[in-house]
Amino acid sequence: MNLIHFLNKMLQICNQITQELFMSEVNTIESTLQENRLFEPSKGFVSNSPMNADALASLYQKAEEDYEGFWGDLARKEIAWVKPFTKTLDESNAPKFTWFEDGELNVSYNCIDRHLVSSQHKTAIIFEGERGDTRYITYGELAEEVNKFANALRAQGVGKGDRVVIYMPMIPEAVFAMQACARIGAIHSVVFGGFSAEALGDRIEDTQAKVVVTADGGYRAGRIVKLKENVDKALANRCDSVKKVIVLNRTDNDVIWQEGRDIWWHEAVANMPTECKPMVMKAEDPLFILYTSGSTGKPKGIQHSSAGYLLGSIMTMKWVFDVRPEHDIYWCTADVGWITGHSYVAYGPLAVGATMLMYEGAPTVPDAGRFWKIIEDHKVTTFYTAPTAIRALMKSGDDYPNRYDLSSLRLLGTVGEPINPEAWMWYHNVIGYENCPIVDTWWQTETGMNMIAPIPSVTPTKPGSCTRPLPGIMAAIVDEEGHEITQPNQGGYLVIKKPWPAMLRTVWGDDARYKETYFSLFGNDMYIAGDNARRDEDGYIWIMGRVDDVLNVSGHRLGTMEIESALVAHPKVAEAAIVGRPHDIKGESVMAFVVPKGNRPVQGDDTQLIQELRDWVADQIGPIAKPDVIRFSDNLPKTRSGKIMRRLLRQIAKGEAINQDTSTLENEDIIKQLQGKA
Ligand code: WT7
Repeated sequence: MNLIHFLNKMLQICNQITQELFMSEVNTIESTLQENRLFEPSKGFVSNSPMNADALASLYQKAEEDYEGFWGDLARKEIAWVKPFTKTLDESNAPKFTWFEDGELNVSYNCIDRHLVSSQHKTAIIFEGERGDTRYITYGELAEEVNKFANALRAQGVGKGDRVVIYMPMIPEAVFAMQACARIGAIHSVVFGGFSAEALGDRIEDTQAKVVVTADGGYRAGRIVKLKENVDKALANRCDSVKKVIVLNRTDNDVIWQEGRDIWWHEAVANMPTECKPMVMKAEDPLFILYTSGSTGKPKGIQHSSAGYLLGSIMTMKWVFDVRPEHDIYWCTADVGWITGHSYVAYGPLAVGATMLMYEGAPTVPDAGRFWKIIEDHKVTTFYTAPTAIRALMKSGDDYPNRYDLSSLRLLGTVGEPINPEAWMWYHNVIGYENCPIVDTWWQTETGMNMIAPIPSVTPTKPGSCTRPLPGIMAAIVDEEGHEITQPNQGGYLVIKKPWPAMLRTVWGDDARYKETYFSLFGNDMYIAGDNARRDEDGYIWIMGRVDDVLNVSGHRLGTMEIESALVAHPKVAEAAIVGRPHDIKGESVMAFVVPKGNRPVQGDDTQLIQELRDWVADQIGPIAKPDVIRFSDNLPKTRSGKIMRRLLRQIAKGEAINQDTSTLENEDIIKQLQGKA
C-alpha cells in the first residue's frame, strides 16, 4: 500500500466516531463497526523474521490440502518424542478427538531438558517481585528446581494421574510446581490466587486433588494476599481427598499450621535429588485441568492433553510471537491462574527455549510506570497483555511510559477481549513507538492456543480486529442453522470446523457436558466458541462479544448464573439477575438486580446491604465477581412464561431507552426501581 493510500485511510478514519462493541443478538445484526485503518508490518520487523508471505501461503495451502499431514509434520518436527506416533488424528469417537495417540513424550522434558545441552547457562526466567526483588533462573537451575519439587511431590505420595491443585502467587515456584507435575505425570489444576476460599474448595472437590501447593502469601498491590489462610478455609469440613498441603514461604506472614497435613516447601525439597527421570506419558494423557465459567452451572474443568497442547503453544510462540530464543525477552503479564499464563508463561516460552519474564504484582505499584520500568530494566522485546491493562495505563497518562526507554520492544500483543481502537492506537504509538506490530490474539481456555491472530511479519493489522485464523485453524462464522455466512459484516456464531491439536479433550469428569456445551448446536464436527463475530470485506474477523450469558470483566470470564447463585445463597436475597454494564476500563462490569426478602430498602438506605452483598460475592467467588452496582426491586421483570427479561435489564444497565414491550409486567413501577429512580 502506498503512502497516499495510507494517508487517505487515515483521513477517512478521522471522520469516524468511536467504534461500538456491543453484545448483540446473534445473526440479525449488521454491524456498525467501521475501522479501516491498516497497519503494515514495519520494514525492520519483516526483514528479520523467518516468516514471509510465501512461507505463510504454503502453510495455509498445506493445511488445506492435507490437514493431518500438516499437523503431523509439525508435531514430528517440533516435539521431542520418546516414541513417535503413527496416527495423527482419530475422529472415530467424535466429538472426542485424539491426536498423536500412540506417541509418547514428557512435556517437562520438552520444556527443560532438551535445552540443557546448548542452553544450560541461559536465563529461562527473569523474576521481579512487587517489592523489587529480582531473580535470574537459568535453564540448568530450572531443571534442578523442577526435579527437586517433582521428587518432593512423589515423596508426598503423588503419582501419575493424581491431581495437584496449585494456588500460588505469580512467582517462579508456581511454574516449578506446574512443570514438576508434568514431569511425574500428575495433573495440575491451577486456581487463580484471586479466587476465594469457597471457589478454591469447589475446584479441589471437583478434581479430588491429593495435594494442594500454596504459599503463606503473595505480594499484590502493596498488600499480602493470604493464600494459606484461604486454603485452610477451603479445606475446613470438606475436600477429604487432600492429604498434604505444601506451603512456600514467600512473605513470612503468620500461618496456622496443621501438623501432619502441612509441610513447608523448603523442607519438602530439602533432601531431594536434583535429578528426576521424566515419566513417559501418552500423548493424550491429561496435562492439566483449568476451570472456566460458562453460561450454566458451576465452572467447568477444562481438560487439556499433553502432546497436542504442547504443539499449540510451540507453534503460536513461533507464528504469532515470532519468537527468537537467541535474543528475545518475552513477557506475558497473565497470571498462571488463567490459560494465558499456562500457554504463554508456564509452557510456551520454555518449550521454545526462550527467556521469559515473570512479575509478581500489580501494574500500579509503586505507580503506573511499573510495567514500563520493567521493560526498560530488562530490555523486554515482546510484551503481551490485556486491553483492560492497556486502558487503565493509558488513563494514567503518557508521562509514565515517556519516562522510560521502551525501544527494546519489537512486538506487542493483546488478549482477552476486543481492544477498542483508541487503546490500540495508544499501544501502537506510545508503547510501540509506531514500530511494533500488534498481535490481537483471539482464543479461549478451551482452545489452548492462539487461534485467530496476525502473523506479525506478514499480516497488516486493523485496530480492533484479531485478523485471520492461524494456519490449520478452520474458523468460520455461521448462522443459526450452521450455514457459513458469506456476506461480509454479518454477525454470526464463531465456530471451528475441524478439531485442532490443542483443543480441550473434555470437561473433567463430564463428557456429557463437554458434548452439550460445545457440540450440541451444529453437530459433532463444529466446535462452538460462544462468541459472536463477523468478517469484513477483507476477510478480517471482528469479535463482537459473547452469545451466551457470560461476562467478560477485565478479560476474565464470569458466568452470570454463577454470580446469581452466589447472591441467592445469601439469607437476605430472594432473587437476583446479573447483567454486564459497559465500563471504560474493565470492558464490562457486573451489575446486579436483586429482589430482597422482606422489605425493599429504599435508595440511600441501601448502602449497608449493598456492601454486605458485595462482600458476600467476593467470599463466594472472588473479588473479580463483585457487582459494581446493585439495585433493589420488588420483582424482576419476567415474560409471561416466567423468563427473566435479560435484554431489558441489559438496556437498563446501559442506560438505554427501553424499546421492549413491558405490558406483561404486573407492576410497571419496577422499571423505575430497576433504573434506580424509585
Ligand atoms: C473469551 C475467552 C484466551 C485467553 C484469555 C481469555 C474473549 C479472548 C479475545 C480477543 C476479542 C477475546 C472471547 C472468548 N476473547 N480473546 N483477542 N478479542 N475477544 O480466555 O477466559 O477462556 O475467555 O474471551 O469472548 O470467548 P477465556
